[in-house]
Parts: sequence; C-alpha cells; structure tokens
Amino acid sequence: MSAPILEVDNLHVRFPITGGGMLGTGKRTLYAVTGVSFSLAKGECLSIVGESGCGKSTTALSIMGLQEPSEGTIRFKGQPITGPGAPSRMARAKAAQMVFQDPYASLNPRQTVNASLAQPLKLHGITGSEATDRIAAMLGSVGLTPEQGTRYPHEFSGGQRQRIGIARALILEPEIVVLDEPVSALDVSIRAQIINLLLDLQEEFGLSYVMISHDLSVVEHMSDRVLVMFFSQIVEQGGWKEIFENPQHPYTRRLIDAIPDPDVALGHGGLAAGATQPAAPAGWRFGSDGSAAPNVFSPPEPSELVDVGPQHKVRLLRA
Ligand SMILES: Nc1ncnc2c1ncn2[C@@H]1O[C@H](COP(=O)(O)OP(=O)(O)O)[C@@H](O)[C@H]1O
Ligand SMILES: [Mg+2]
Repeated sequence: MSAPILEVDNLHVRFPITGGGMLGTGKRTLYAVTGVSFSLAKGECLSIVGESGCGKSTTALSIMGLQEPSEGTIRFKGQPITGPGAPSRMARAKAAQMVFQDPYASLNPRQTVNASLAQPLKLHGITGSEATDRIAAMLGSVGLTPEQGTRYPHEFSGGQRQRIGIARALILEPEIVVLDEPVSALDVSIRAQIINLLLDLQEEFGLSYVMISHDLSVVEHMSDRVLVMFFSQIVEQGGWKEIFENPQHPYTRRLIDAIPDPDVALGHGGLAAGATQPAAPAGWRFGSDGSAAPNVFSPPEPSELVDVGPQHKVRLLRA
C-alpha cells in the first residue's frame, strides 16, 4: 500500500473557557478533541461519525489548518502542516479543501457562480482563457450548465448550491477534500444525488475524502473506513463491514439503531431486532454508551483503543 496522504497523530484540541458560569470558577477547559489518530490513503473515503458536539468539526478544521491543535501532529504526504517548515497557505489550499454543510454561507451573494469560481484561481495565478476553461469544465463535472455560471447563489435550489460549493472546493484540484455534513442541510430526496455526485467526482479526480456526519445512513454508501467519535474521542474504528455488520461499542450500536430506514440498518446481515449488546472482552469494560451527556469540562477517563479484529478497534477501560 502506498504511503498515506494524510496522517493525524494524537490530535488534542482543548478550548480554554473563561468567565463565571454555574461552576463558579473563572477558568475551565473544554475537551473538544482528545487523542484522535488516523491516516488516510489516496483515493479512500474515511468517515467520522458521531453526535453533535463530539468534536468532528474541530477535527476537520484542524486538518484544514484552521484550528491550532493543543497537541499532536497533522501531516500531508509526510510533511507537518504546522510548525517550522509547514507549507504555505497557498500550498495547503492546493492540498486540501473543505465542503461545508451550508454552501450559502460560504458563497458571496453578490458574486455570480463564475466569479466565485474565478476567485481562488486568480489567487493562484490562473486567469484568462485557462480560468474560463477550467470553470466551464468544473461546472460540467458537478452537473451545472455554462449558462448557470452567470447566475447568483439565490437563484439556485439547495442541492444546486451544494453543487456550486463542491465546484468551488474542487476548482484548485486538491487531493484531499474534507466534507463536513455535506448533505445534512438538504432535502432527503436530493441527498442521494449529491452523494452519488461526490462518488463520481472521487473517481474522476482520484480524490481522498474525510467525510463527517452525525448520520450513519449518509456515510453508509461512501465510506471505506469509519471512525466513531463520542465526546472528543474515537470509541470505535474499522472498515465499513466491521462498523455496520459487527459493531462492538454500545455507542456505535446506538448510532446504527438510530438509522431511520430499517432496510439500511438490517440489510447487511447486521443487527437482528432485539440483539443483545456485545460483551466487553475479559478484563475490560465499556465506558459510556452515550445515553448520558458527558461532562465536556473534565478529561475523559483513561482508556485504550483495543484490537478486536483485523483493522477493528474499540475503546475500552480496564475493568
Ligand atoms: N471555538 C470554540 N470555542 C469553544 N468551544 C468550542 C469551539 N469550537 C467548538 N467548541 C466546542 O467543542 C466541542 C466540539 O465541537 P465540534 O467540533 O463543533 O462538534 P461537532 O462538529 O461534532 O458537532 C463542543 O462542545 C463545542 O461546543
Ligand atoms: Mg460539526
């Protein structure tokens, strides 16, 4: 296997929170990301799933160089993205780009689609007919017409606007694309279209995806590997098959049980109705099953990611 394109090693992000609050103390620390490690191979889709507030977006922003880690290292093709010798902003923009949940928020309402696609190209010295050709080709790749390039964001539907957001992320031909809840704001009826578009583009451009979602049914069709996050930590990681067909952590089970379409939840020889929770291996216990909200102001209990199968790890506490 080729060297990973992205490596995240022991990422921690803590936010100092100042000001009173109910606890009465002046200063507290919020644990947003705790000890997250993973690597991404070229052409792979790695999904990070977990409920709101578990640290997915903070992880995404760290990968993009938009959030300074408290600890840990992030490398693109072996090169750290922070510290001495880190690539410039321009170089980073060509390496990784992000697609957001709400493309409307990231598009300038006074700019035509063509103008908003021309802007990053111009910053990278691409203008004139080369820019025009690239914009036309990109619009075609995301399923929009050249004529639509002359229109403004408000003239489009939510699904079309996400196509524009994707075009803007891909126009500089990045190798890694971080997709933060890319279909969560869209009507259920058009989510599949956008997911299929992302899969087509991944193939067309050889992209590597980090896909972030609170909804397991969304990642089901896209992921090669899945990381399950709960309260700032990875609680389970594995290939698609391990996570969907043989989930071990009680929290992963809860997420899979929450998939609305029973065909998805049960369609892969997976969980039978009323199936019992898997037991923790001898000498270990599970932490929270996610039914109670964690205290984000205390560090998580000491625990380990333990191998439970090839490429399949579960977070366990010593019993
Ligand atoms: N800039 C920030 N300052 C303080 N707390 C933050 C900041 N960004 C995120 N958080 C907190 O960090 C935790 C993780 O947030 P986030 O990464 O956005 O979660 P997710 O994307 O999984 O919903 C949450 O408790 C959130 O309130
Ligand atoms: Mg988020």
